Amino acid sequence: FQPRVLEGRKVLITAGATFERIDAVRGITNTSSGKMGFAIARAAWEAGAEVTLVAGETALPTPPGSRRIDVKSAQDMLSAVNAEIDTQDIFISVAAVADYYVLNQSEQKIKKDAHILTLELAPNPDILASVACRPRPPFCVGFAAESENLIEYAQAKRKRKQLPLLAANLVQSAMGAEDNELILLDDAGEHKLPRAPKLDVARQLVTHLARLYDADHPA
Ligand code: C5P
Repeated sequence: FQPRVLEGRKVLITAGATFERIDAVRGITNTSSGKMGFAIARAAWEAGAEVTLVAGETALPTPPGSRRIDVKSAQDMLSAVNAEIDTQDIFISVAAVADYYVLNQSEQKIKKDAHILTLELAPNPDILASVACRPRPPFCVGFAAESENLIEYAQAKRKRKQLPLLAANLVQSAMGAEDNELILLDDAGEHKLPRAPKLDVARQLVTHLARLYDADHPA
């Protein structure tokens, strides 16, 4: 049983990895199963939210209650988010967005030969940062996957992106796994969500963010 702590709230979630084309058959992507983001979409719906799920590359089935928008590149994800964001109360950015896209993309399949091939990479927009720095942003939740110095790097990220809440996890313990453990960072400090199935962790995250959201928006 999940208390309906997000009843009537509109929640936008990005999940999965973006994919940046190199040519007709190749591309660059990140390691991300999409499981954590999809679990959060389900948990938010259980909590009474109206959920829009912007999904990158993943083979996962749509969670119950989500309106799903499939995207490929970071630019596609940004466009989908921008089209929805004005009406949202809460934005949870779980997607593993590629940091770069390929400038010298080829329409046709590149034929291999003995030459060195150089990819030119240009930085992608930071979707979460662009939403969080809007004049009247929705309540923004970020994720930080780090392989070392977890708390230190995550704190810096929360500050840089101006997020009321950031969920930090170790790459080694989260990627592709059925379980996860998170450290939530907010103005009050650190809050550990111990290792559990991703849906359980997602439910606890939803409970925590709903409390912060309500404190920010007194009835
Ligand atoms: O900077 P880093 O990629 O580690 O930040 C992680 C957080 O920022 C995640 O919430 C991720 O979804 C979001 N992000 C984004 N757009 C990017 C890069 C990251 O929305 N281009």
